[in-house]
Amino acid sequence: MAAVVLVGAQWGDEGKGKITDYLAERADVVIRYQGGSNAGHTVMVGHEEFKLHLVPSGILYPGKLCIIGNGVVLDPAVLVEELDGLAARGVDTSGLKISNRAHLILPYHKGLDAAQEEHRGEAMIGTTKRGIGPAYVDKAARTGIRVGDLLDWEEFSAKVAHNLAATNELLAKIYDRPGYDLQAILEEYAGYARRLRPLIADSVRLVNRALQEGRKVLFEGAQGTLLDLDQGTYPFVTSSYPVAGGACIGAGVGPTRIDKVIGVVKAYTTRVGSGPFPTEITGPAGDALRQQGMEFGTTTGRPRRCGWLDTVILRHAAEVNGLTGIALTKLDVLTGLDPLRICTSYRYRGTVGEDFPASLKALEECEPVYEELPGWHEDITGARSLDDLPANCRRYIRRLEELTGVPVHLIAVGPRRDQTIVLE
Ligand code: GTP
Repeated sequence: MAAVVLVGAQWGDEGKGKITDYLAERADVVIRYQGGSNAGHTVMVGHEEFKLHLVPSGILYPGKLCIIGNGVVLDPAVLVEELDGLAARGVDTSGLKISNRAHLILPYHKGLDAAQEEHRGEAMIGTTKRGIGPAYVDKAARTGIRVGDLLDWEEFSAKVAHNLAATNELLAKIYDRPGYDLQAILEEYAGYARRLRPLIADSVRLVNRALQEGRKVLFEGAQGTLLDLDQGTYPFVTSSYPVAGGACIGAGVGPTRIDKVIGVVKAYTTRVGSGPFPTEITGPAGDALRQQGMEFGTTTGRPRRCGWLDTVILRHAAEVNGLTGIALTKLDVLTGLDPLRICTSYRYRGTVGEDFPASLKALEECEPVYEELPGWHEDITGARSLDDLPANCRRYIRRLEELTGVPVHLIAVGPRRDQTIVLE
C-alpha cells in the first residue's frame, strides 16, 4: 500500500468506518478529503464503540498523522467536542492537523440549511441541517471563510461581518427567520481560533511530502458514490465529491499519485430518505433485513430503506472511481436469507440495459432484473479465511466479482476488527 483511496460504492453507510480502521492501521498518514460532520463512521475497538464525524479514523492508532483536508467543510464546534470526547476516553489526538484551506461552517450556515430545507417542503433533500450545503455554496460563490482566516483575526472578523449582513437579510426577507448576532459569533470563534491554532497547517505540503518520502497515505472518503454531486442521484446528493477524484481535489494531490482505489460495498443495498431505489425490499422482508443489519441512522435513528445487491450501481461505481478492489461488508447479515437475489441489469420501457441512468425520472421507471442464488444458513461471523465460508457464500462473492469486474480484497463478517477476511 502506498496511496490508497477508500470510497463508498453505494449510497453511504456501507460500513466504511470498519474498513478505514483496518487500512488506517497499515498507513502512516490518514486524510479526510470531503464532506463535513454529516459523515459518521462507526469503529469498534474491542467492545468499545467510537463514532467519528470529522477526525480521520487513524486517530485510534497512536503515532499516525491525521489530516482534515482542504476539501472538508469544518464545524469547529463539532471538532472541539469530538477532540474532547476522544481525549476523555484516553485517545491521543496530538497527531491531528487541519488544512488551512478547509472552509469553515458558521452558525448562520446551519440556520440557512434548516430554513432552506423547510422551504423545500415535499421536495426536501433530507440534509442533516449541519450547514454543510450552505458552506459549500459560499465556497463556490468565492465568499467562503477558510480555516486559515482564523489566524488573522481582523480579516476573519471583517469577512464574518460582511457575510452575516447578507445572510441575515436573506433569513429575514425570504425565510422569515431571525438573524444571528455578530458579537456572539466572534466571541465563540475566538475561542476556537485559540484552541485550533496549533493544529492549522498547510496540509497540501504535508501530504505531498509524505508521498514523496514513500510513506503510506490513506485517503478516507465519506458518504458514497451515489451521493456524489456529479456522479450521484442528483439532486438527492451531498454537496461535495465522495468519488475517488474528490481525493485529488480535497487533499491537493495529482491523480498520478494514487495507486489503489478500494470501494466499500455492503452485501446488500440501503438508502436513506426519498428517491428511486430499484432493488428496495418493502414489507416484512425489508423490515427483517433492516433489523438484521441494524440499519438505522447513526445520529437520527431514522430507519434506512433496504434492498438487494445492485450490480448496476456497482458497475457505475467501479467506472467513476476506477475501483481496483472491493471491501465487502456485512456479509454476515445475509445469513439465513434463502434464496438471495442480485440485480444484474435494469429493464427500462421494455429494454434491458446495463447502465445506471443519469436521470432520476428514468431510474424511477427502471425495474430490476434479478438473478437468484442459493443462500447459506451457517454462522459466518467466526470465518477468518475464504475456506471458512460456506460454498454458497463463496459463490455469492464470486458472482459479485464477475458482475462488477472488480476483485474482492477484504470481507467483513462482523463489526469487530478481527472479524475480517483478507484475500489480497
Ligand atoms: P458513513 O460514512 O456515514 O457512510 O458511515 P459508514 O460507512 O462507516 O457506516 P456506519 O457508520 O453506518 O457503519 C455501519 C455499522 O455497521 C456500524 O455499526 C458498524 O460497526 C457495523 N458493521 C461494519 N461492518 C460490519 C459487518 O461486517 N457486519 C456487521 N454485522 N456489522 C458491521
